[in-house]
Amino acid sequence: MESNALSISCAGLTLNNPTMLASGIMGYSTESFQRIANSGAGAVVTKSVGIQPRVGYVNPTVVQAESGIINAMGLPNPGITIFSEEIKFSKMILRVPLVVSIFGYSAEDYAEVAKKASEAGADAIELNVSCPHVKQTGAEIGQSPKLLSEVVQQVKIATNKPLIVKLSPNVTDITILAQAAIEAGADALTVINTLKAIAIDVETQTPILGNIKGGLSGAAIKPVALRCVYDIADQFKIPIIGCGGIKNWRDAVEFFLAGASIVQIGTAVADNIEVFQSITKGIENYLRKKNARSVKDIVGLAHRK
Ligand code: SIN
Repeated sequence: MESNALSISCAGLTLNNPTMLASGIMGYSTESFQRIANSGAGAVVTKSVGIQPRVGYVNPTVVQAESGIINAMGLPNPGITIFSEEIKFSKMILRVPLVVSIFGYSAEDYAEVAKKASEAGADAIELNVSCPHVKQTGAEIGQSPKLLSEVVQQVKIATNKPLIVKLSPNVTDITILAQAAIEAGADALTVINTLKAIAIDVETQTPILGNIKGGLSGAAIKPVALRCVYDIADQFKIPIIGCGGIKNWRDAVEFFLAGASIVQIGTAVADNIEVFQSITKGIENYLRKKNARSVKDIVGLAHRK
């Protein structure tokens, strides 16, 4: 095994290990990003930011589900103008790549936010075209190959930073959306965002979340996420960042074998911030046991016929 077996260069980013903080988990502050980087993440992804500040939904915004959580925060964010100052500050402090997640209500919106985030110093842009419950953005864009393609094309013109497209699983065939993103110029895909879900209280006999519906994340969605990664890797050569229910090294390795080169960890971080270190250590042991020189050696191995 090579001494830097865990480091990975992918879609214009170099990480010292193949883990990233998933978008949405630690919000918008440099202090949180720094905590995550110090606990061993190879990169951090911010919560999604739009052009204007947005308050988000009324509480409750998160509910525990079996083997996961359902959230509907409503994309609360300070707007890109204010957040640009935090990006600049983060870049002075962070020693790992900072990926800025963005959303908009039109291709022009996405392009403007991407431009400002890039000028502020984002190392890459992740397009949130997959939030399952905010109207006129997110999955409402990412479920349409035509709209998705327009957004990706406009953002490509607005920034020369690596462009990662985070896909929705709430579609009939995710490979059609992957193809649209790839043909429009995506450098990498994050696979997947949350599954649209609901929780109901039997005493009050009403939906629990303020927004009624939200997005399910955590262990419950891992098999779906893995299948989406597998399907996309089966058809396309694009770098894939696996995301969905990863909580230990074994989960991470399953995603590499399915075709991902990097994994994002979200829900599991809320329980245990040390998860990055334990996953990285476990991947390292696995590579050694399998005589693999690096993560790249095992990416996509499950596709061998
Ligand atoms: C939210 O802010 O409600 C979640 C965003 C997302 O699922 O993309």
